[in-house]
Amino acid sequence: MQRKSDEFYMKKCIELALLGKGQVSPNPMVGCVVLDKNGEIISTGYHKKYGEFHAERNALINTDTAKTEEGTIFVNLEPCSHWGKTPPCTDIIIEKKIKKVVIGMQDVNPKIDGISVLKNAGIEVVTGVLENECKFLNRVFIKNITENLPYVVLKTATTMDGKISTQNGDSKWITSEESRAEVYKMRKEFDCIMTSSNTVIADNPTMEHRFKCIADTNNKISKDSKILSQGKIYHATKYNTPLKDGHLDLRAVLTELYKQGACSVLVECGGTMAGAMLKEGLIDEIYQFIAPKILNDNTGKSCFNGDSVNQISQTTKLTIYDTQIVSDDLLVKSIVRKP
Ligand SMILES: NC(=O)c1ccc[n+]([C@@H]2O[C@H](COP(=O)([O-])OP(=O)(O)OC[C@H]3O[C@@H](n4cnc5c(N)ncnc54)[C@H](OP(=O)(O)O)[C@@H]3O)[C@@H](O)[C@H]2O)c1
Repeated sequence: MQRKSDEFYMKKCIELALLGKGQVSPNPMVGCVVLDKNGEIISTGYHKKYGEFHAERNALINTDTAKTEEGTIFVNLEPCSHWGKTPPCTDIIIEKKIKKVVIGMQDVNPKIDGISVLKNAGIEVVTGVLENECKFLNRVFIKNITENLPYVVLKTATTMDGKISTQNGDSKWITSEESRAEVYKMRKEFDCIMTSSNTVIADNPTMEHRFKCIADTNNKISKDSKILSQGKIYHATKYNTPLKDGHLDLRAVLTELYKQGACSVLVECGGTMAGAMLKEGLIDEIYQFIAPKILNDNTGKSCFNGDSVNQISQTTKLTIYDTQIVSDDLLVKSIVRKP
């Protein structure tokens, strides 16, 4: 059989890794493909659930050494070399007499040095195959480990001219029922939903979720607010959070959410808090639902309402990676490019 390119097998690893989505956090998503010495795929595996075996062990554990000897394995993340909840993956790779390991990206966790362990055992190691795709796959994990912060996605629903409400705060409903249903589904993919005092006061949303955070500097929301009726609540106020420029230090709020186990946060607020978060470099991604409507009123509220900016060169740059039509609306997903 004609052996395919390294990129072909790495793409398979990414597809396998995605099968663990939603089950492996705070661990990364990892997939693995094993070829025998003739280049035939003899096994595959992925990390299925947090606390359970990693992809490499799942792929190799039930495969005879007679078959794996002199073989190659592909894996989107550097194999681990330490005891965590499971034994090191480098052990089983060496034990199964694998000759070559092809890796998508090196682990950002400083405790991991799988590449050296494998090389010291005489195994050939190739790194950086589809590296950007592998980093994109595990962008939440990378942010968590390198910055000790949750990965933050700002969701906003706007008119074509970027407005989220009229000047008097009327925002119901800019987007379609289908888009709102999409938001309900989306929320489940995040560990925490974060909103602001003003949005709670203006809309009185429930935002059903297991863990919710309200940024409310002066503790001004009503005790009867619907958001407080359900889920675990982290109510950030000046009494439990440091201040910055008279408002909550939002980095400190996110640090606390990470300490409380939130690896990812979906922020749903108006333009004031969104603008402040963008300026502080706290937003990683934006999900923007755009309705085919134009408010045509400059006094309407904008989805980002930061400082006055005089030059287009000062704009925040985004990279769009996905667009979807949801009923009448357009959903644009983009990564915020950090300078
Ligand atoms: N279309 C949409 O996607 C969408 C989503 C959400 C809301 N909305 C609409 O947006 C409107 C509210 O927007 P808004 O701009 O007035 O308010 P906002 O951005 O939702 O919230 C701003 C408030 O957040 C609090 N906050 C806490 N820490 C902050 C910080 N570091 N920086 C900035 N603010 C901080 C401040 O009040 P304190 O300091 O007093 O706590 C501030 O006034 C409502 O009409 C709502 O319906 C639309």
